[in-house]
This record gives sequence, C-alpha cells and structure tokens, in this order.
Amino acid sequence: MKTTANFRKMKRDNDPIAMLTAYDAPSARLAERAGVDLLLVGDSLGMVVLGYDSTIPVTVDDMVLHTKAVKRGARETFVVTDLPFLSYHSDFSETAGYVKRLTQEAGADAVKLEGGMEVTETVKKLVQAGVPVMGHLGLTPQSVGVLGGYKVQGKQSPDAEKLIREAQALEDAGAFAIVIECVPRQLGQVMTERLNIPVIGIGAGADTDGQVLVYHDVIGYESENVPKFVHQYTNISSLIEQGLARYVNDVKECAFPQQKHTYTMKEDQLQELYS
Ligand code: KIV
Ligand code: NA
Repeated sequence: MKTTANFRKMKRDNDPIAMLTAYDAPSARLAERAGVDLLLVGDSLGMVVLGYDSTIPVTVDDMVLHTKAVKRGARETFVVTDLPFLSYHSDFSETAGYVKRLTQEAGADAVKLEGGMEVTETVKKLVQAGVPVMGHLGLTPQSVGVLGGYKVQGKQSPDAEKLIREAQALEDAGAFAIVIECVPRQLGQVMTERLNIPVIGIGAGADTDGQVLVYHDVIGYESENVPKFVHQYTNISSLIEQGLARYVNDVKECAFPQQKHTYTMKEDQLQELYS
C-alpha cells in the first residue's frame, strides 16, 4: 500500500497521482485493480449513491458504513475518508471522536476536510494526534449555500491569492496533500508550484500533481449533467439498462429461467410429494 511518503515522492518525481472516489466494496476492488494510487470515500456519496441533492445531509454514520465497505474491497490501497458537513467545526473533542470512528472503527488511512484558515487549527491537532489529513480548497461543496452554487473559484484577485495563502496554511498545519476543486488551470499550476505537498486537482487543469474524479462520473453510471471537468471513459448506464430490460423481457416471455438455471428432484421423492 502506498503511503503519504510515497505521495510526496510522487510529487518530487513528477509522477502523476491518480485518485478516484469509491463508495462500496465492488467499486473499490475494481479501482484497486485498475491501479489507482489512493481512494477517496467522498461525501459526494450523498449525491452519487444516496440520492440527496447535496452533500449536506451526509452523516458520520454514512461515512463509517461506506468506508468499511471500501476497505473490505480494496485492502491494498490508501483510503481517505471525508469528514462530513459540520462534523469538524465545534470543539476538537467532538471532531476527534468522529475521526476516531472513521479511522479506528472503519479503517480510513486519512481524513479529508474542506476549508482554509478556519480549519488549520483542527488540521494541526489531528496531525499532532497522528492522523494524516488532506485539505480541500476552491469549490468546497459543503459550503454550497455560502458560495451560492457550484461555480469556478479563484478566477480573480483577491480570491486567487487567498486560495494560495490558505493552501500554504494547510501545508504549514501538517496536511499531507490537498485537493483543489474547480479553479482556473493557472491557479492550479501556481498552487502546485508553491506547495511541497501534493496538490490533487478536480477541474483544476493538467498541471497539478494528480487528478481526482468521482467514480460514477468516470464510468457514466447514472451521472447526468456532469461538470465540464469530467471525462466519461465509458457509459455503464446503457449497458446496465440493456441488461435489465432483457431480464424483464425474458421473465415476461417465460424465457427465463431455462433448464440450466433449474434444480430438480429425484423421481421417487417427487412421487411422495404428490402422494
Ligand atoms: O466528495 C468527493 O467526491 C470529493 C472529491 C470530488 C474531491 O470531495
Ligand atoms: Na467531498
């Protein structure tokens, strides 16, 4: 399993880091087999697999459940789990309790949290306690209400400078990497150059140290209206739809099950059944 030290070395060696989300055991197993460097149990699971409109309703219990499943599926891959909405903005002992569940109970190798200056103290304390922490800046979906929608961030001064300062503050606080979401590629490049820790982009251009995408977006699994930064590498929805339609049709037409799918009873046992 790769470690935080490996990710730092990958940055130094200009060896791109491929990160992907996963929410359950089969997706994690397939991602591991595909050779992803690290997996993220993103709170995007609220939208992608639980059917919510945002990540706001996601709970620590949800994250624990899905992290356990991902760890069972991908035993050889470093797994980062998102701290969900409002689980790290009260007192530290509450945050530490949640982080303890996600790491000790669920098996996460690191946690990710959104935000800049307002979370650096928490990052510092978690790192001091031995927990690897990943930052997340730019478009931070847990703040969608404050940001006023899912929009590109840091397009102009002073927003861009603020993001650079926040990234540096997260590095100083001990974060082992940061995700930057939905920022101009030039800002992605500057942040990547200024930081010693890996910068993983999503909608941040080609110059970051790595990329992360949402599993369902990559495979085209019921992900409609995807943002500009997504590339769908396949379209699993249409395959699933075709398969399911054939199943339903076969049942309606009594074409399934066939003899080969069927168990049979010995003749003498059958006689007793009818006697
Ligand atoms: O929840 C998530 O999937 C994320 C990634 C998009 C970075 O935070
Ligand atoms: Na997230």
